[in-house]
Amino acid sequence: MENFIVSARKYRPQEFDSVVGQAHVTDTLEHAISNNQLAQALLFCGPRGVGKTTCARILARKINERDGSTSEDGFSYNIYELDAASNNSVDDIRALIDQVRFAPQTGTYKVYIIDEVHMLSSSAFNAFLKTLEEPPAHAIFILATTEKHKIIPTILSRCQIYDFKRISIEDIQSHLRGIAKKEGITYEDDALYLIAQKADGALRDALSIFDRLSTFTQKNITLSKAAEVLNVLDYEYYLQIADQAKKGKMSEVLSGFNEIIKRGFDAHLFIAGLGNHFRDLMMAQSPSTLSLIEVGENTRGKFENQSTQWSPQQLIDAIEICNQADINYKNSKNPRLTVEIALMQLCSLGAAASLKKKSS
Ligand SMILES: Nc1ncnc2c1ncn2[C@@H]1O[C@H](COP(=O)(O)OP(=O)(O)O)[C@@H](O)[C@H]1O
Ligand SMILES: [Mg+2]
Repeated sequence: MENFIVSARKYRPQEFDSVVGQAHVTDTLEHAISNNQLAQALLFCGPRGVGKTTCARILARKINERDGSTSEDGFSYNIYELDAASNNSVDDIRALIDQVRFAPQTGTYKVYIIDEVHMLSSSAFNAFLKTLEEPPAHAIFILATTEKHKIIPTILSRCQIYDFKRISIEDIQSHLRGIAKKEGITYEDDALYLIAQKADGALRDALSIFDRLSTFTQKNITLSKAAEVLNVLDYEYYLQIADQAKKGKMSEVLSGFNEIIKRGFDAHLFIAGLGNHFRDLMMAQSPSTLSLIEVGENTRGKFENQSTQWSPQQLIDAIEICNQADINYKNSKNPRLTVEIALMQLCSLGAAASLKKKSS
């Protein structure tokens, strides 16, 4: 069996060009390197899984390449990496500081990457501070953290700070498309969108969901499988319930809801999700709000279609009904009934609307 390498590792960018969604950082770094304006201490901040460690390594390698301390096969002699999440004692940092004093044997710079720097114990922090105050000319520190607020001001003020951003859904989706192609994985585009949405801005999370799904679906990632694995209710359910409610088909709607509960889906999430579905239909009614719907292309088309069956006032009423049930849910002695009442109200809203249509 071939060894499976997780995508997050296999596709760690080796160049700034291939880092997604952080151009404001990577451009500045490229620029600083080529103009020799790099600070001696840099701090990379931002949420997890957005490329901080990756960029620290690329930058370190580039610094080494420039001063000729990289071997022919690309190995850099002067990069030291300390993961403060697991090496956070004062001894760990002392060992590092001891090395810092010596100039490199080849090249000009030694680059120290201290990852998860907020995890250093306070005594380790203090020991480090002295070095950071007066670093030898050959030392460059790249610190990375997800918790900028935990970094004491004296350190912050000594570092050039780079803020990494969460990565947009579209950027993640398009990155996943590229990997799927390389890996020979077939996919529904909306499934990739859903993965990207669930990853909440972290590319690493997106990649690990992607791997999980690719294994689970034997390299054919569909929207419905993605929804299943991610435990989100497939949009098709909402589309169907809204459709039946519009026709006033109360028994179908109620048994549809029962089906959803039986599949282990949370009733509270369901009614909140249905409210959001009607909100999306409202947004689908105008081109200027269409972009406020967070779903893939194909699904958006279906929403647009369905939205034409409802008047704006009916949608407001429907949203209100779902929202009330959402609010009342936790305080209800019979929360399931709370949701069912809302569904019945939606059906009579739909039925009344179609009656009106017939008589006019
Ligand atoms: N901006 C990005 N562009 C491309 N890949 C990324 C990006 N951010 C994260 N990744 C992917 O996720 C993995 C982990 O990223 P990493 O740089 O360790 O994140 P962080 O240090 O911010 O938590 C990388 O190996 C890469 O596959
Ligand atoms: Mg990291």
